[in-house]
Amino acid sequence: MKVVAAEHVAAAAGQDGLPPPGPPEIAFLGRSNVGKSSLLNALAGRRGLARVSSTPGKTRLLHFYRLECQQGAARRPLVLVDLPGYGWARVSQEERKSWQALVEGYLAGREPLRAAVLLQDLRRDVSRDELDLLAWLAERHIPVLVALTKCDKLSLGPRTARARELARALGPSPERVLAISASRGLGVTELWRAILAHVG
Ligand code: GTP
Ligand code: MG
Repeated sequence: MKVVAAEHVAAAAGQDGLPPPGPPEIAFLGRSNVGKSSLLNALAGRRGLARVSSTPGKTRLLHFYRLECQQGAARRPLVLVDLPGYGWARVSQEERKSWQALVEGYLAGREPLRAAVLLQDLRRDVSRDELDLLAWLAERHIPVLVALTKCDKLSLGPRTARARELARALGPSPERVLAISASRGLGVTELWRAILAHVG
């Protein structure tokens, strides 16, 4: 599979700003700074497509990226959606609610949505936020792939042990749990394969 084109097509601050339903969509969600934008760039094979932030939690927008994927003679469009991160330090109840309205509003009612990729830092423990999100997605029958990010920070042995530990903590609802490094390109092919299985 080769990504032959990639472009940013829309940024939405609310339901009104969503682009009209089009090609299949895959949503990326996770804690702020977990590596969502970096993973999107790694999947697209384009370094500067999504902005990698040094100031976490700044973007409270949904970003839509349209890719053209070439497999043999077939070419198909696919949209990757970079959702705003959660878990910024000390946000108000108000801000939490507006994040929820934005993200859940998109996830709950989006016809082209095929699957969600939940990102979890390989070195961090799973929190209530991830477990709540997984339960919420399972209730709505949205398939979930988990990407354990920044796996380059651990050597192979500890990485494998940690991935197994986190898979247990995440419970039975994720369809796959994959260790990923956007910076080294580890696990990216496997994640692509799992994503494409949801795109008809
Ligand atoms: P927000 O948009 O603020 O929610 O962050 P994000 O989840 O999009 O994370 P982003 O991709 O901006 O990455 C955050 C930081 O983690 C950056 O400094 C990245 O360089 C770093 N990072 C992302 N992926 C990896 C990785 O695979 N390995 C390592 N070592 N660092 C990474
Ligand atoms: Mg980002």
